[in-house]
Amino acid sequence: MSAVLDVDATAGATSVATALRTVVAAEAAATTTIAIVLLGTGVVGGALLKLLNTPAAVSVRLVGAANSRRQQTVAASLANRNLREQLNNSQGDARDNAGLLAALDASGAAVKVIVDATASAPLASRHAEWLGRGYHVVTANKALAGGELPGWRALQAAVVNGGRYGDSATVGAGLPVLSTLRRLRSCGDALLTLEGVFSGSLSWLFNQYDGSRPFSALLSEARKLGYTEPDPRSDLSGEDVARKLLIIARNAGFALGTDEVDVQGLVPEPLRALDTESFLARLEELDEPLAKLHAQAKSRGNVLRFLARLNQRGRARVGLVEVPLTHPAARLYGTDNQFALTTTRYNTQPLVIQGPGAGPEVTAQALLGDVLALA
Ligand SMILES: NC(=O)c1ccc[n+]([C@@H]2O[C@H](COP(=O)([O-])OP(=O)(O)OC[C@H]3O[C@@H](n4cnc5c(N)ncnc54)[C@H](OP(=O)(O)O)[C@@H]3O)[C@@H](O)[C@H]2O)c1
Repeated sequence: MSAVLDVDATAGATSVATALRTVVAAEAAATTTIAIVLLGTGVVGGALLKLLNTPAAVSVRLVGAANSRRQQTVAASLANRNLREQLNNSQGDARDNAGLLAALDASGAAVKVIVDATASAPLASRHAEWLGRGYHVVTANKALAGGELPGWRALQAAVVNGGRYGDSATVGAGLPVLSTLRRLRSCGDALLTLEGVFSGSLSWLFNQYDGSRPFSALLSEARKLGYTEPDPRSDLSGEDVARKLLIIARNAGFALGTDEVDVQGLVPEPLRALDTESFLARLEELDEPLAKLHAQAKSRGNVLRFLARLNQRGRARVGLVEVPLTHPAARLYGTDNQFALTTTRYNTQPLVIQGPGAGPEVTAQALLGDVLALA
């Protein structure tokens, strides 16, 4: 690109420098190769908006953003300062996916990406269709890859036909689990068994739970710290862990259905159908059964951990397990996640991937990493 600087002859060096900077910025915008639209401007989407304002994302142009009610689009580039607040204050157009895709088309960018930072199942059900239409999809939303098997199969078919699916943020908030698994498989290695702690909130709860405080008190603290969902049953049910287990298992070649994961959640039956407020008022009902399990484990020198496990026959289980102090999961800290992969080549000792498995910044970074990898 060439440009003629229209600088007033009387202007000083400062004006020339400003004009030059403008030209450089225009050139940068014209050469950016990746246009994205962002679905979801909540905790993770908000963190991604911040990252998009950093030099790491200079090649990425945000041309649309939406929450569940409103959206804004600008084919050139959205100024994303205050965008989240504006959408929350209902500034923008009514939600319409077609408008977002039109902004991607009008961007002229070589690489067009839909970033899904929602937990919406209806949106996830569109991923395969979008891939089929030539867009790439980068997602923190587990509802498709960790949902019903036909959805997973449709996704595989769409990926084979050319679209690329960035799913790093769906498991371990961007810990290199899926990428490592794919790399091993591409070298002919195969997953034999998998075991680990896949939930930051459940990791924290059982790393802390030593019987000195009731489980309900720890749960209230975890909720205040933002480690659990506003309704902690989403964490305690084990369903989110099951979705992550399904995603890893399917990527390892085990085409499991949702009904093939045995999920033993922590919410007693009488508390399952309550509204959130009533559930929170009855948290103490969780205490006695867990105290009993904890005491039994302690009497044998063991601890409790909420584990996801896949064995060699493809049997998948999620639930509370008593493990010895020598077990890798007994030595976790804070909200750490842990993924222990035993493969044909990592056979004597598993390959263990461990670290913060939740948090907006690391999750948003995983999304950005997947976007940049498409260039
Ligand atoms: N938080 C973490 O540390 C973390 C880590 C790994 C993965 N994840 C995953 O990342 C995703 C987002 O999590 P989050 O914590 O950011 O959730 P969140 O704070 O609840 O934000 C969700 C966002 O999605 C929007 N949304 C819902 N339906 C939509 C639709 N149909 N179209 C456009 N936007 C829609 C919501 O809009 P409204 O504001 O209008 O409701 C909100 O902006 C989830 O799938 C979660 O499992 C989160």
